Amino acid sequence: MNTTRRRFFALLTALPLLSFFSANGRLPKTLPPTPPCDDHDEPTPPLEEGPFFTPRSPERSTLLDPNMAGTVVVLTGQVLDTNCQPVAGALLDWWQADDAGDYDNRGFRLRGHQYTDKRGNFRLETIMPGLYPGRTRHLHVKVQAPGRRVLTTQLFFPDEPRNQRDGIFDPALLMDVRRRGDKEIAKYTFVVNA
Ligand SMILES: [Fe+2]
Repeated sequence: MNTTRRRFFALLTALPLLSFFSANGRLPKTLPPTPPCDDHDEPTPPLEEGPFFTPRSPERSTLLDPNMAGTVVVLTGQVLDTNCQPVAGALLDWWQADDAGDYDNRGFRLRGHQYTDKRGNFRLETIMPGLYPGRTRHLHVKVQAPGRRVLTTQLFFPDEPRNQRDGIFDPALLMDVRRRGDKEIAKYTFVVNA
């Protein structure tokens, strides 16, 4: 029996069972909650803002400047709501340390904001943030669905020795990062209450 036919017969076998449980009112209790969409059904956790946020950053999708030191990171991702629907026009406001672990607190170097497209997607070019005392490597971001509350959080890089020693590190905020050539290709999906 081929796979399609086998599935068809399996479905036929299951149907009477389903109607039996429905008739007894038991099925709703045994159904799982809304099916998870790729494990993105939990809202992205907030994390502390830290002392270096500057409002009114420029709108841009690359934080790279000519001759900027550091390994290039290309981060792509999506903003979803808790029903796993894409959030179009969500604000993402990024800030981070430079390759030496310093923040630009006078200007907007390595700071910028952008909006998700109609499918909730974003793409950011930046560099690997440097380390500074007491912290593991991280990106800061504020995420805001249109007209909703701001989520302030941070994203982390896997396989960083300091992750386990950083008191505010949260594994739910780890990006998926792969090396491709001389760049780090990172992915992250935000889930917000929208
Ligand atoms: Fe920081």
